[in-house]
Amino acid sequence: MTQHNLTPESKLPALGTTIFTQMSALAQQHNAINLPQGFPDFDGPRYLQERLAYHVSQGANQYAPMTGVLPLREAIAEKTAELYGYRPDINSDITVTAGATEALYAAITALVRQGDEVICFDPSYDSYAPAVELSGGVLKRIALQPPGFRVDWTAFAALLSSKTRLVILNAPHNPSATVWRQADFAALWQAIADREIYMLSDEVYEHICFDETGCASAPLPSPRSAKPFI
Ligand SMILES: Cc1ncc(COP(=O)(O)O)c(C=O)c1O
Repeated sequence: MTQHNLTPESKLPALGTTIFTQMSALAQQHNAINLPQGFPDFDGPRYLQERLAYHVSQGANQYAPMTGVLPLREAIAEKTAELYGYRPDINSDITVTAGATEALYAAITALVRQGDEVICFDPSYDSYAPAVELSGGVLKRIALQPPGFRVDWTAFAALLSSKTRLVILNAPHNPSATVWRQADFAALWQAIADREIYMLSDEVYEHICFDETGCASAPLPSPRSAKPFI
């Protein structure tokens, strides 16, 4: 009888095991507190649990529109306007995803074409590189230098080329917690203003920021004062 190997060949053979899996396994092995991965040891907000239970009990079990349910997109537009003074269009500017990793993957695969170059700042969240590689792009990495983990803008300018398509930034930054200052955004703008380059801004820690001088965002409104949007 012919034996078939049903394991498909990996499209990312050099990928290896992510640092999240490695560190979580070590934490478990040594019975240590697992800081590398987001494992909150507290429950989610009570009002969110109640809203979830309410909608489950009301039979909300249908597919959502591709871009997300309308009241949620309206609430995101409202929050963005309140915090940043810019109101995104609920139909063309907002897409709801199941977490940031899906949004990052969708954005990278939508923008990056064969041979395009993508700049990211290392250490970086390890789902950027595989998405760039699967899209046929070439990742150009810039090392953030300790102790401040700030961007060397001269090195950044030297890395730009006619193939640069995308720059991925992450602030507040994981794992250093560095927040970009106005001067960083100005330097970035100066470097790319004349080029057709897209920015992908990963701000998953936007509200975990304790330094008002460097913070890109205002604090999150208290959940207790927020009215249920849906
Ligand atoms: C910088 C950064 N972006 C995105 C993510 C993942 O976000 P999500 O869990 O919403 O997919 C992480 C998780 O560690 C991260 O560190």
